[in-house]
Amino acid sequence: MKRTHHNGTLRIENVGEHVELVGWVAKRRNFGSINFIDLRDRSGLVQLVVNHDEYPIVETLKNEFVISVSGTVRERQDKNPKMLTGDVEIEVAEIKVINKANQTPMIIADETDALEETRLKYRYLDLRRPVMQEKLMTRARIVREMRDTLEAQGFIDIETPMLTKSTPEGAREYLVPSRVHAGEFYALAQSPQIFKQMLMIAGMERYYQVARCFRDEDLRADRQLDFTQVDIEASFLSEDEFQEIIEGVVNNVMVNVLGHEKPAIPKIKFIDALNNYGSDKPDMRFDFLLQDFGTVFAKSEFKVFSDVLAEGGSLKGLVLRGQAESITRKVIDKYTDLVKKYGLKGLVVLKKEAEGFTGSAAKFISESEHDAIVAAFNVEVGDVVFVGSGAWETTCTAIGALRLALAKDYDMVPSNSFAYCWVVDFPMFEMEDGVIIARHHPFTSPKEADIPLLDTDPLAVIAQAYDLVLNGFEVAGGSMRIYDQALQQKLFELIGFTPEEIEKRFGFFVDAFQYGTPPHGGIAFGLDRYAMALTHSDTIRDVIAFPKNASARCPLTNAPSPAVDKQLQELHLSIVTEEK
Ligand code: AMO
Repeated sequence: MKRTHHNGTLRIENVGEHVELVGWVAKRRNFGSINFIDLRDRSGLVQLVVNHDEYPIVETLKNEFVISVSGTVRERQDKNPKMLTGDVEIEVAEIKVINKANQTPMIIADETDALEETRLKYRYLDLRRPVMQEKLMTRARIVREMRDTLEAQGFIDIETPMLTKSTPEGAREYLVPSRVHAGEFYALAQSPQIFKQMLMIAGMERYYQVARCFRDEDLRADRQLDFTQVDIEASFLSEDEFQEIIEGVVNNVMVNVLGHEKPAIPKIKFIDALNNYGSDKPDMRFDFLLQDFGTVFAKSEFKVFSDVLAEGGSLKGLVLRGQAESITRKVIDKYTDLVKKYGLKGLVVLKKEAEGFTGSAAKFISESEHDAIVAAFNVEVGDVVFVGSGAWETTCTAIGALRLALAKDYDMVPSNSFAYCWVVDFPMFEMEDGVIIARHHPFTSPKEADIPLLDTDPLAVIAQAYDLVLNGFEVAGGSMRIYDQALQQKLFELIGFTPEEIEKRFGFFVDAFQYGTPPHGGIAFGLDRYAMALTHSDTIRDVIAFPKNASARCPLTNAPSPAVDKQLQELHLSIVTEEK
């Protein structure tokens, strides 16, 4: 089987050349004695012209047959400007069937009406679609560019174990039973965090790895159970110096892979991101900022607002311009349900009309408050004001979700654009179910000036943590690390580990700090999520060759599946079925 060219590369310059091609039959059309075939390979499609009388075999060709042909490139009479090869066609002189194909359960084309379940079950067919091949190729170029940039900066690629020990990073882990050690388990690495810090202690100075990570999480459009990080760590650099290196990686991806210009990457503090965008991963492709309604309602007699303010909560809102007519009862209910999902009790919606506000809460708004709102936010007739109230972070996040929903519904998001930012100055801790937990992970260093606050007001401590955000997705997260043994110990204790637990779970880690630990810090890109955002895909599954579906199954292989008794015995396990 000789192959002289890839199908999608043929151009007018090739006219007159003898070619030998291979590929899949994408389409065959019959015009009397002439058959036109679109022949597809990874590079694209080219049109073949076959004379039926000379090559009757052509009538047997069906979609997805694998064939080889030889022939001559000629100029097409009716050119197809939509195809890259649309100026030419191949006059076929020889045609061979390499393999036949059954009728496929889905259409192999960019546009497909197949359900995602079908696409995942027959993923090898779904991945034949040019649009999917393009995404996987872009992903490969992204990771290669990241590697090249890091290597050029002296980062060394080092692998770390996947079968490892449970670590305290927050996500639920997968446990792997040991056959050799009855009743004992490995954990699948949720990230190489501990190992990359060990590599810094080991003096490797600059490390990176394209690492598979495993987290037993509920799946969303931007999450998978097994996913890939481009994991990075460096010693002896300041937070700014380290971020500059990461910006170099981003710049090279944007310029060399996407042919884009270097993006601006503004730094925004966590508190400002919440206040203005209602998210610690702000989508900055459009403005539509959150407004603070605390001042205009400072003396409000509307109990919903006055109670919240009395408890130290916040009033946050949005002004939607000129859409009053489209905000029907049903639409209000939809947005109210949305903010309730984020923990608010309700949503105040006010429509501006000539005489004042209308809406179910309008009667609680005094004339002076009306005037203050109109003046503060330039509210005009036809505008709609949305206000939510509650604890600061909950309110910001709920109104932030409303911001995204309104932006989508009212077409405010420019397509094909990229907006990056760094989110910095995260609080070190947060409260979850009444206990204090690390927001990033407990290896993150507090800002030096805040270390005394660890004893007096831990919730006020700011961490040296940073996230890189693209189009509203957290595409990378990292921090400068603690490199002092006593401080690390203190952090573990603050988040509720007893000295015995620390010793048992990460004694090895704390011990390592005694032998000369350099200052260090790092970051991990979620490669899948980054590729998703860069290719403007709707789901992370579109940039992963063989993903799990939303209910954590692989429809192609049917994993997970029951183990046979012999396997269970070897692993010292037995299955207990709970009575329902
Ligand atoms: P973090 O937990 O923030 O940090 O993860 C880093 C990045 O990985 C991606 N990510 C995921 N992608 C797909 N599916 C998931 N389930 C998933 N979970 C996370 C995100 C995220 O920004 N060890 C630290 C990094 C460090 O401090 O250096 C860590 O893992 O894009």
